Amino acid sequence: MRWFCPALPLVHMNLVHRAGPSISLSSSSTRTYIGDKASAQCKAHGSPIRCGHFRNVVINTGGKKMSAVHDSKQFRGALSAFATGITVVTSRSSEGQDFGLTATSFNSVSLDPPMILWSLDRKSSNAEAFAKTGAFAVHVLASDQEHVCKQFSTKGIDRFAGLGCGRGYAEVPVIPGCAAVFECRIAHRYEGGDHVIMVGEVHSFTSGQKDPLVFYRGKICDPFLQPNA
Ligand SMILES: Cc1cc2nc3c(=O)[nH]c(=O)nc-3n(C[C@H](O)[C@H](O)[C@H](O)COP(=O)(O)O)c2cc1C
Repeated sequence: MRWFCPALPLVHMNLVHRAGPSISLSSSSTRTYIGDKASAQCKAHGSPIRCGHFRNVVINTGGKKMSAVHDSKQFRGALSAFATGITVVTSRSSEGQDFGLTATSFNSVSLDPPMILWSLDRKSSNAEAFAKTGAFAVHVLASDQEHVCKQFSTKGIDRFAGLGCGRGYAEVPVIPGCAAVFECRIAHRYEGGDHVIMVGEVHSFTSGQKDPLVFYRGKICDPFLQPNA
């Protein structure tokens, strides 16, 4: 499944239409990509797309500016060049109903006071519940939690089943075994196009030594094993 959050980057980008779209395979001195979207391979490893290196068709505008309005597919492809972690955001309604979803739009905002943000699709089945709640927890998923990512992006199932959640700030469900967890009070909600930007003031957090899941070019990647020197 591919997911991209268009809301936040649009705020910062200067978008001018000058050229038609161009989707091409990319080649550089260190990496060459072969095949099409369905069969891309890393030439360095000769392995299919889960080798941990580049695994997909690269959106290449040839250095020319493109309109994000008229070329939304290419725009989303360009956004996917920004590698992120994967989070699950959970909350609890005043009626005691737990809810949550997978989100890659998480980012840091402020150290003092400690604040983070993520953005919520207005079309989400969780949109109404998040509009009413006053707290949430952001879980940075660990490399062994790909199933949690899938569970919280699948409709029509109990997303909390089998996870052995505890309770955190404001009784919000907390998933065990994550790379980090940020328990927040909702400080602000901002309009963000087709998303709502949720800003949380961090009440408490935990962080361990586990490798994170990594999301890049629309796919889950192997975790980073070693940081660059
Ligand atoms: C990797 C990934 C990242 C996602 N990131 C977001 C996000 O940042 N914001 C969002 O609203 N939905 C995001 N989604 C979609 C939701 O997780 C969920 O699939 C979608 O909201 C449909 O379920 P719902 O209508 O019950 O929320 C993401 C999905 C995946 C698989």
